[in-house]
Amino acid sequence: MARSLKVAPEYINHVKSALRRNGYPSQKKFAEHVTPSLSTVKKFLNGEPVDFEYFVELCEALGLEWRDIYLDESDNPPSPNVSNPILEESSPFITGTPITHPRYFFGRKRELKRLFNLLKRHPLQNAAIIGKRRIGKTSLLHYLKTITTTPPEELRPGQKSDWLPHPERYCWIFVDFQDTRMASQEKLLGYILEAMNMKVPNPCHLDYFMDVVSSHLHSPTVILLDEIGVGLQRCPELDDGFWDSLRSLATNQTGGNLAFILATPESPLDLASHTGHSSPFFNIFGYTAFLGALTEVEARELIDSSPIPFPVEDVTWILEKSQCLPLLLQILCRERLFSLEEGETGDDWREEGLRQIEPFTNF
Ligand SMILES: Nc1ncnc2c1ncn2[C@@H]1O[C@H](COP(=O)(O)OP(=O)(O)OP(=O)(O)O)[C@@H](O)[C@H]1O
Ligand SMILES: [Mg+2]
Repeated sequence: MARSLKVAPEYINHVKSALRRNGYPSQKKFAEHVTPSLSTVKKFLNGEPVDFEYFVELCEALGLEWRDIYLDESDNPPSPNVSNPILEESSPFITGTPITHPRYFFGRKRELKRLFNLLKRHPLQNAAIIGKRRIGKTSLLHYLKTITTTPPEELRPGQKSDWLPHPERYCWIFVDFQDTRMASQEKLLGYILEAMNMKVPNPCHLDYFMDVVSSHLHSPTVILLDEIGVGLQRCPELDDGFWDSLRSLATNQTGGNLAFILATPESPLDLASHTGHSSPFFNIFGYTAFLGALTEVEARELIDSSPIPFPVEDVTWILEKSQCLPLLLQILCRERLFSLEEGETGDDWREEGLRQIEPFTNF
């Protein structure tokens, strides 16, 4: 089997554009979310060889099927049945970083139903996702963006994805205000235009942005604003005039084709007033999804996704100790799985699990 692979030249553009589609504003940002270093990520994106394991991981992270895009240079390409060390060795439980692949996202069915209801008809309507730290706001934004277009073979059996009648028509734009470049009005507007496949002038001013979006936006577009509080606190360039313009775009000028969904620990109105903003942008969010614990059924589904089934008494213990909070569930499942894989007997893993969740229990 080839120990390294490269992207076939005809797929390089497709792979590069997958960065944006998956919400990564830059190669550097992407590299922060994966095991390989930035230089390996660059090699991968430029069609240079990278280790097989890394190749598979990077494709996965970008929602790409590695078998479709690698350059077949030998008579012995990696067999589709060949074991994939990264996938076999890595835990299905993700702790800490937001869930970006829908396969690993659980629950939130009620919120998803409500949110997609606002997005499946014209005019598209705005929503806010509110929840405490680490509750799963960013993961939910990623899920909204990816679930309707992820190939069924990459999802869990029975995982619902037909939320929208024509998902292929939607443009999803993920804005992470923790990315300092988003503090610059010009860069933010350029990023949004690029994601809309529109020409980006240099410099990109608000007037131009308003003109071009109001006259050319003809398909449903959802702008996901993560950590908007950071944007309001740290970015003086994003002033009331800027937010007023965005409101005007969404409400009057795009034929109902534009919606905003923001994620924040506090309500948009409180956020605005704490940060000295008075723009009416912050009262266009007619629906608020308040994120809390998963339901028990949803939490059980997450626990049952373990490649090695857990004993019933451990499932009960995990449900109780996690209070069905997704991060705590993930950590306790990770610990249990690890102990089973290591062939450990006894309950030491519980002690370790409690130690690991301790920093996150003061929700
Ligand atoms: N729906 C979910 N399914 C499975 N795990 C989840 C889900 N939502 C959250 N998690 C778990 O919780 C962790 C934190 O999720 P996420 O980063 O999305 O939260 P957040 O609310 O955006 O946090 P922060 O306030 O720090 O930005 C993830 O790493 C994952 O372990
Ligand atoms: Mg977050």
